[in-house]
Amino acid sequence: MRVVIIGPPGAGKGTQSSRLAKYLDIRHLSTGDILRSAKKAGTRIGKLVAPIMDEGHLVPDELIVSVVEERIEMDDCQSGYLLDGFPRTLPQGEAYQRYLDEHQQKIDHVIELQVDDDELKKRLEARYHKMENPREDDKPEAIPRRIEVYHSETSPLVDFYSTERFNGVLKVIAGIGTMDEVFQRILTEIGQEDQSLAS
Ligand code: AP5
Ligand code: MG
Repeated sequence: MRVVIIGPPGAGKGTQSSRLAKYLDIRHLSTGDILRSAKKAGTRIGKLVAPIMDEGHLVPDELIVSVVEERIEMDDCQSGYLLDGFPRTLPQGEAYQRYLDEHQQKIDHVIELQVDDDELKKRLEARYHKMENPREDDKPEAIPRRIEVYHSETSPLVDFYSTERFNGVLKVIAGIGTMDEVFQRILTEIGQEDQSLAS
């Protein structure tokens, strides 16, 4: 199964993706995590993306598309994967779709997590103050930029996945409420019964 999760910074993509990937027994691929690891390891890509990420901008499309395509060809992704943070621009969505078409593959679900801007700011500010080593892009001046970038660059993807060609693939989920409530909504929308509740 191939699943994509889209949502603004702080929407709970990482939180819900790790639960959902475990539930569906597929790989959770967070492009943010992949880039942060590269940054920490000081690789060529890591050095290139560090200043871009730290200020809350997006890294270049070609770079992230090639990172993702390389990653999803690995053995552990052959039975499926959950993409968290990719695609994030229309050109990325189009490039990913070309890749899928070439490989005669398709996306099963695109989950859009909706959370209003005020709540996003609250969550990210809270995380910044709570962490001993906060994420560089959680600093107060970067948060509004990340939210702005989401509205201008990423949200057009929601329209892209609403088109007829993606017939019913898009699932719009309210990302507010408890983490359990949001998870339950996702399971219902993608037609998966929560066995932990059934027993
Ligand atoms: P990325 O790592 O993807 O970060 P992000 O989208 O900015 O957002 P977060 O990871 O902070 O939020 P999240 O939605 O995962 O929420 P989380 O579960 O953590 O990207 C970072 C950067 O990498 C980008 O800015 C860009 O530079 C680069 N990048 C990555 N992919 C790229 C791409 N494809 N193209 C170009 N550049 C790319 O939750 C947030 C907080 O809220 C947590 O504290 C959590 O505990 C809390 N929370 C979660 N759910 C709830 C709830 N229901 N109620 C209350 N609190 C909650
Ligand atoms: Mg995340």
